[in-house]
Parts: sequence; structure tokens; C-alpha cells
Amino acid sequence: MAIPSAIDLDLQAVRRQFPALGLKIDGQPAVYLDNPAGTQVPQRVIDRTADYWRTMNANQGGSFATSRRSDALMADVRQAAATFVNAASADEIVFGPNMTTLTFAVSRAIGRELRPGDEIVVTRLEHDANVSPWLALQERGVTVRFVDIIVPECTLDMHDLHRQLSARTRLVAVTHASNAVGTVPDLAEVSRAAHAAGAWLWVDAVHYGPHGSIDVRAIDCDFLVCSSYKFYGPHQGILYGRRELLERLHPYKVRPASDEGPTRWETGTQNHECLAGLLGALEYLAGLGGADRVVRPALEAAMHRIRAHERALAARLIDGLQQIAGIQIYGITDPQALDHRVPTVSLTWPPHRPEALARWLAAHQVFTWHGNHYATEVIARLGLVEQGGTLRIGMAHYNTASEVDLVLELLAGYRP
Ligand SMILES: Cc1ncc(COP(=O)(O)O)c(C=O)c1O
Repeated sequence: MAIPSAIDLDLQAVRRQFPALGLKIDGQPAVYLDNPAGTQVPQRVIDRTADYWRTMNANQGGSFATSRRSDALMADVRQAAATFVNAASADEIVFGPNMTTLTFAVSRAIGRELRPGDEIVVTRLEHDANVSPWLALQERGVTVRFVDIIVPECTLDMHDLHRQLSARTRLVAVTHASNAVGTVPDLAEVSRAAHAAGAWLWVDAVHYGPHGSIDVRAIDCDFLVCSSYKFYGPHQGILYGRRELLERLHPYKVRPASDEGPTRWETGTQNHECLAGLLGALEYLAGLGGADRVVRPALEAAMHRIRAHERALAARLIDGLQQIAGIQIYGITDPQALDHRVPTVSLTWPPHRPEALARWLAAHQVFTWHGNHYATEVIARLGLVEQGGTLRIGMAHYNTASEVDLVLELLAGYRP
């Protein structure tokens, strides 16, 4: 399939598919720039979820029609999720409530194999959901090492990565994109270095998911986690694990549950209606790439369009922010280097506190986030704990240039 160009993203057609974008909140149109904490959903997701309730609501594994439909749905979603991350097989996909829960579940299982003196390497770019589950293994005598970042661009310090790795490293945990400052690290290099040290690579793709094409085979990672509420779907976690590892490790599970295939990792009854919604989100993305079912070329085409549009939005926002005296942006700002970031822009503007700025924007129905964004290591490294973290303006592909202009205008006119 030919990759369509950026101008192929028909923004008005995109926005029409998201019911929330057309609604007024408290009598005023809302501007959603809170996307890193969760995106809005297209009608397809709502329809898929409602259709599950209406036509197939049942537990799995029964001999009656609705149960068989639930089984079939689950198989379809697993295959679609495998296509989304480019896994070789649907057997490498595990579902769970969210990324954090899945990461704790697998980190505990990995911990069963670790010995005192083993090491895990994480980075200071991470959301804490990719730090605390590894720190928890310190109780088994495991040492956790941190890779530093270069400030204020907030890129990974690759020299430090190589310094932290050794023959004792068992796992490297790294983000595909920072939810605080937008950096997209060079995962190919991290992967090469981790594997050269004999370690497994764990990738947190939660923040990258809405912005770019995830490809576990290209990254050559051993595990990857993402969450569909960040890419236009419901609250649903997804784990990719290399088949051999999912089979070899021992999950904490109840005895009667299957010990075969990916379901051995899925504790309790899954959230079927959200899984139906996840299928809807992937169908939406495939549709953006010109297909009516979830096939890889269409997902890649969709992400290509999304990235091109978002790059233009990021350039416009960064350029506008740089015109406002006193605003400090944390993250990549070089217009030539925007491929190395997603359109998640963090800033401070002393002496104004990020919370006050977010409140001002919210009063004008522009939704942003302030604080540490659970990326506590980044915020501490930037020395921003005392002043309340950053203001984060997080764009998605349905945002428009006029929304960017509005947020710039509001910030320029800020009155404490
Ligand atoms: C980069 C990143 N990783 C992990 C998480 C945690 O994801 P979940 O809410 O699915 O547990 C988030 C949530 O904001 C995130 O942005």
C-alpha cells in the first residue's frame, strides 16, 4: 500500500468522528490538550462497546451463542492488537486492566528468576509505572540503576546508558516516548546495547501509541506495554511478550485457570466491553489509513499521516511559546529534530505556577495538565519539584492549528 501524504489527513472528517469534540461543555466548546492523560474516543469505539453489551454479553468458554461470540471477539481483538504492535503472533498479546497493573504482574514474575546482585536499568525519562515495578524487586536483592538525561532537551544520555550496563544487567526498561516532555529515545540503540549486555528489553509504549507506529520486531524488544485509552480507545492495557518468555516465566495465577498461551497471564475475567472498544479504536485507525479492517499497512499509513500533522502542530506551538518572554520549554525545540519528539510540550513560566496557568486555561475551556505527570524522575532531574512541575500541553491528531493559536493567545494574555 502506498503511504499517503500528510495533506491526506482530513481534519474536519477526523473531528466529526469524535462526538466529544462537537459538544459544548458548560455552554462552551472545549479544547482538548489533556491528551497524554487520555484521548477522546471516536464513534466506532462507542458503537463497538455498546454492541458488545447488546449482542454478546457473556463469560467466555461456554457452549451457548453469546459466550461463543465473546470468544470470537476476544480472538479478533487479540489478532488486531498483535497487528497494532506488529507481533508475529496473537499468542504474544496479553490483556489487562492497564499498563501499570500488567507491568507489576510481569515484574513480579520476572523477579522470581532474579538473584541478589542482578541489576535492572531504567531511565530518568520514565513514567513511574516503568520505575516502581522494578524498584519493587529491590526486596529480592536486585539493584536498580538509572540512566541520566541531558537537559533541557531531555534526551537520553546514551553514554550513561552504556556506563550503567554490565554483565549483571538482566533487564532494561525504557520509554518509547516521554509523557512529560515528549522525547522519543533511539530505541534501536537501546535495544542493541541491552541485548549486547545479555539483558531483556522492556518498552513502555503508552505515550508513543497515539503518535507513531509501534513495531516490536523493528525495535527487537522482549516486552512492550501500551494502554488503549491513550490512543482513542477505552481503558484497557495491552502487553506484548516474546512467546518464549511468556511461556517460560511463571505468572501468579489461580489454579483452575488455563496455563496455556497468553491467557495464563490474564487473571480473572477480562473487561470484554473495553476489549470490544479496543477493536473499535484499531478499526478507526485502520480507517484513517484507508482500510475497513485492521491491517498493518493501513495502521502504518494512519500513523504516518498522524505524525506529519502532529509535527506541524508541535512546530507551531513551540515557535509560539518561544515568542512569549520568560517561558522555558523542557524537551526538544529544534525544528529540525521534531522527529525525535511527540507533540507533548512541557513548560514553566516563573514566577507563575503551572497549576495557576492550567487553571487560567481551564477557565477558558482549554484543558491541560500541570504537575509531575507521574514522571517524577524527569521533574526531579529538572529541579522542578518545588515549583509544582510543568504545564503540559499535549496534542493529538484531532487538534487544530487554531486551537494551538488559542492556547498561545490565552497564555500571552495571562493575568494572575
Ligand atoms: C508513559 C506512560 N507510561 C505508563 C502510564 C501508565 O499507564 P496506565 O494508566 O495504563 O497504567 C502512563 C499513564 O499516563 C504513561 O503516560
